[in-house]
Amino acid sequence: MPRLLLVSNRLPVTVKTEKDQVSVVRSAGGLATGLSGPHERSGGLWVGWPGDVSRLSQAQRAKVDEQLAGLRCVPLYLSSSEVSRFYEGYSNRVLWPLCHYLVERVPRQDRDWDSYAKVNERFAELAASHYQPGDTIWVHDYQLMLVPALLRKRLPEARIGFFHHIPFPSSEIFRTLPRREALVRGLLGADLVGFHTPSYVHHFSNTMLQVLGLETEVDHVTYEGRTVRLGAFPMGIDAEAFDRLAREQSTLEEVKVLRERAVGQRLLVGVDRLDYTKGIPRRLLAVQRVLEREPSLRGRLRFIQVAVPSRTQVEDYAAYREQVDELVGRINGLYGNMHNVPVHYLYRSLNEKQLAALYRGADVMLVTPIRDGMNLVAKEFCAARPDEDGVLLLSEFAGAANELCEATFVNPYDVEGMADAILKALEMPASERQPRMRALRERVKAHDVHWWVGRFLDTLQSIPAPAQREV
Ligand code: UDP
Ligand code: G6P
Repeated sequence: MPRLLLVSNRLPVTVKTEKDQVSVVRSAGGLATGLSGPHERSGGLWVGWPGDVSRLSQAQRAKVDEQLAGLRCVPLYLSSSEVSRFYEGYSNRVLWPLCHYLVERVPRQDRDWDSYAKVNERFAELAASHYQPGDTIWVHDYQLMLVPALLRKRLPEARIGFFHHIPFPSSEIFRTLPRREALVRGLLGADLVGFHTPSYVHHFSNTMLQVLGLETEVDHVTYEGRTVRLGAFPMGIDAEAFDRLAREQSTLEEVKVLRERAVGQRLLVGVDRLDYTKGIPRRLLAVQRVLEREPSLRGRLRFIQVAVPSRTQVEDYAAYREQVDELVGRINGLYGNMHNVPVHYLYRSLNEKQLAALYRGADVMLVTPIRDGMNLVAKEFCAARPDEDGVLLLSEFAGAANELCEATFVNPYDVEGMADAILKALEMPASERQPRMRALRERVKAHDVHWWVGRFLDTLQSIPAPAQREV
C-alpha cells in the first residue's frame, strides 16, 4: 500500500487554550472524526489547520508542533486574516450555504476569493513539499477545491484523489457562483473525484457540461488529455469502535444514570454541530407540537439536544444560535416546571464515550437536517445499539438516507409530519423496532469507514500509473 498524504482544512485535532493551559483535542465534524482511524492505521501524514493559535507564545507553539508531529500531523497555520477571509469568508459564507442550496445566504459581494485562492496555494505548496514519489495524495472537501489542480501543476505524475464531503448541488445552483469555472477546473486536477451519493456525481457532471462544455461518461471525463474518474463513495464510520464503546461497562453505567434521571420519561436525542443546515429549529417545533397535541406526554418526554459550537464568528451562525436559544426557552417555559423541563440543551461538545452513552440510552434519535452531505451521527447511533433497539428518524435530505433504508424518514421542512413521526416512533412496538435496527446495523457495519477508504483508494490505484498514462 503506498503511503497516504491526507490534505484537509481541519486536522483531526484542534488546539484548545484554557486559561494558560494548551492542549490538542479531538476535532468535531464528520471529516475529522471519520478519517482519524484510517490515518492512525496508514502510517502516512495529514496536512491541515490545527485551529487558531494566535494567542500562543513561541514556547507553547513549539509544544503544539511537537504534539502534532507525534500524531503525524503537519500543521498549516492560518493568519487571522486568512481565518476570516479564506475559512469564515469564502469557505463558510459562500461555498457552504451554496452547496446546501441556501443561495440567499451567500453574500452579494465576492470579497474573499483572492484569500481562498492564496490559501489553496499554500496548502498545495506544503503538501507538495512533503510528497515522496509513490505517495498517494488525498485532498478533502470544499475548502480546498483548487488544490488538486495546483498539485497537478507541481507534481504532474502524482496520484491525486479528491473527496467532496458536503452535497454537490444541482448545476442550476452551482453555476450561480461567479467563480464556478475555476472551482470545477480545480477539482479536475485530481485523478479521481468522489462524492457521497450518485446524485451528487450527476450534479457535478451536469455542471461540467454547462460550465466547461465537457461531455462526461457515467464514471469518467476526459480533461486536458487525462482521464478523471468520478464516483459515489458513501462514507462510513468506525462501526466496530462505536459498537465496542457502547458495550463497555463504564458506558452502560452512564446510560443507567441517564435513564435514572429520566425515570418514567421517553428520551429523544439530537446531536449536531450548531449549524443552520441541521434543521434544529423545526425539530424543536416538532417536539413542541407533540407536547401540544398529546397532553399525556407532558412531563413524560425529555429531549436532549447537543449542539456543538461551530464557526461562531460567522454572523449566520450567531443568529442561528439565538434562534435556537429562544425556541428552547419558549418550549421549556410552556411545558416545564420547577422540577422538570422538556428540552435539555447542551451547547458544548461531548467525547466519544459520552456520545455512545447518549446514543445507547435514546428511545428516538432525531437526525433532521434540511440538507446534509452524509450525516455520520445517524450511522453512529445505529452502531452504538448492540441491543438492537431505538428508532432512527432521518431526514430525506441527508446523504445517509440513500443507504439507511430502514430508518423512519421525515421531511425536515414539515413540522407537523415530524410530530406525527415522533409519536409513531414512540409507539413503535419492539417487534418492528428490532428488525429495523438489526438491518441498519448490518449496513453500517458492512459499509464502514475502512470499506470506504478501501474502495476509494482501490479505485484511485486502479487508474493507470503515470508512465502508462503517457503512452
Ligand atoms: N461529534 C463530536 N462531538 C460532539 C458531537 C459530535 O465529536 O459533541 C462528532 C460526531 O461523533 C460525528 C461528527 O462530529 O462523527 C459529526 O459528523 P456529521 O457527519 O454528522 O456532521 P458534520 O458535523 O460533519 O456536518
Ligand atoms: C463538515 C465539513 C468539514 C468540516 C466540519 C467541521 O463536516 O464537511 O470539512 O471540518 O464540518 O467544520 P469546521 O468548520 O469546524 O472545520
